[in-house]
Amino acid sequence: MTNNTTNIKEYPAWVLKGKEGLERTKELASKRESLVRCLTGMRPSGKLHLWHYVGALQMWKELQNIDNIDCLFLIADYHALSDNFDNPDIVKQSVRDVALDWMSVWLDPKKAHFVVQSYVPETAELTQFLQTFITKPQLDDNPTLKNEMRQISSGKKDNSDISVAFYNYPTSQAADILLPKWEIVAVGEDQIPHIEMTRRVANKINNQFRIVFPHKPFALLGEVPKLMGVDGKEKMSKSLGNAIMLSDSKEEVEAKVKKMYTDPGRLKKTDPGKLEGNVVFTYLDVFFEDASLLQDYKDRYTRGGNNAPGDMEMKIMLADTLHRLLEPIRERRKEAEENPRIVSDALEEGSAYERKIAQQTLIDLKDAMGILRY
Ligand code: TRP
Repeated sequence: MTNNTTNIKEYPAWVLKGKEGLERTKELASKRESLVRCLTGMRPSGKLHLWHYVGALQMWKELQNIDNIDCLFLIADYHALSDNFDNPDIVKQSVRDVALDWMSVWLDPKKAHFVVQSYVPETAELTQFLQTFITKPQLDDNPTLKNEMRQISSGKKDNSDISVAFYNYPTSQAADILLPKWEIVAVGEDQIPHIEMTRRVANKINNQFRIVFPHKPFALLGEVPKLMGVDGKEKMSKSLGNAIMLSDSKEEVEAKVKKMYTDPGRLKKTDPGKLEGNVVFTYLDVFFEDASLLQDYKDRYTRGGNNAPGDMEMKIMLADTLHRLLEPIRERRKEAEENPRIVSDALEEGSAYERKIAQQTLIDLKDAMGILRY
C-alpha cells in the first residue's frame, strides 16, 4: 500500500504520526516494565468504510499485536446518543455493526479489549468530576466541536439543536481517556483538540492535588490523514453518501468505482491526462500494492499517446485492487456474523475489564481530592 501524505502540518511534540509514531510507541512499550495502555474509540453511527480502515483500523491492528501494550477499543455510544437522541435505534444497530466491522478487519477481542462506553458507568462519574475542572471557554474554543455543532445546526445560529451532552462530549472523551490512565490515544487529527484538553485537565488535577494521572499521554495519528469520498469533493462519509463501506458487495464497489471522476478534460484515451483531482488515481495511490508499477501507469496516463491507459482500464484496476482488499474482510465478517455470541461476549468481557481499572482510578481521584467519604 502506498502512502499519500501530502498535507504536512506542524503538530505539538506529543502528537506522533504514522509509521514513525508506531515505532516510537513500540520503543516506549519495550522499555516499560508495566503495561502501556493504548486507547482508541469510535462513535457508533453506522457501518464503517474504507477511510476508517486506512485512517484508523489498520493501525489498531498493528497496535493490538505489540507486546506490552494493552489496547482498549472503545465504542462511544454515549457520544452517538448525544446527537441521535431522537433515534436510539441507529445507535443500537451500530454498536453491533461497528464491533462486527472491527472483527472483520482482524481486530481481535482476545488481543484487545472491546469496550462499550455505557457499560462502564464510571465514565459518567468521571465526566461529572472533570467538568468541574474544565471551563466553558475551553469547550467554546474547541475547533472540532465548533465545526460539528455548525454541521448539526445546519446553518441555524442559535445552536438550538445541540444537546448539552453533545456540547460536553469532549469532557466525556477526556473521561474515557483518563479512566484507564491512558498513555497513547490513537485518533484522527480532528481529535487533537480533545486530547489537548484532556492533557490540560489531567495536569490541573495533578498540580492541584497530587499525581493522579502519572503518564505524559500522547496522540498517535494514522498513516493516511484523509480519504476523499467517491465523489472527489468531500472527505469520505457515510452521511454524504460518498463512501465505500467495508461490507459493500463486489457489485456495489464496482458500481461506485465506475461512477468516479477521472480527468473531465480528457476526451480520448490518447489525450494527456491529469492526476490532480482524479479520484481514481487518488484511490490507487492509497490502495494499490505496487508503487513502481503504479508510477508507470501514471507516467503513461499523463503523457498520453497510444500507450496511455484508458479511464476504464484504470477503473477496472482500482475495482480489482479493492476486491483483493475487501474479499477476505467480507469472509471474515461472515464468520463473525454466524455466531452473534462472539460479539456480545467480547463487549461484556472487555467492558468488565475496563470497569475494574476505572473504579480504581475514581478511588485515586476522590482520595486525592480528600472526598472519598464525608
Ligand atoms: N470522539 C471520537 C470520534 O468521534 C470517539 C471517541 C470517544 C474516542 N472517546 C474516545 C476516541 C476516546 C479516542 C479515545 O471518533
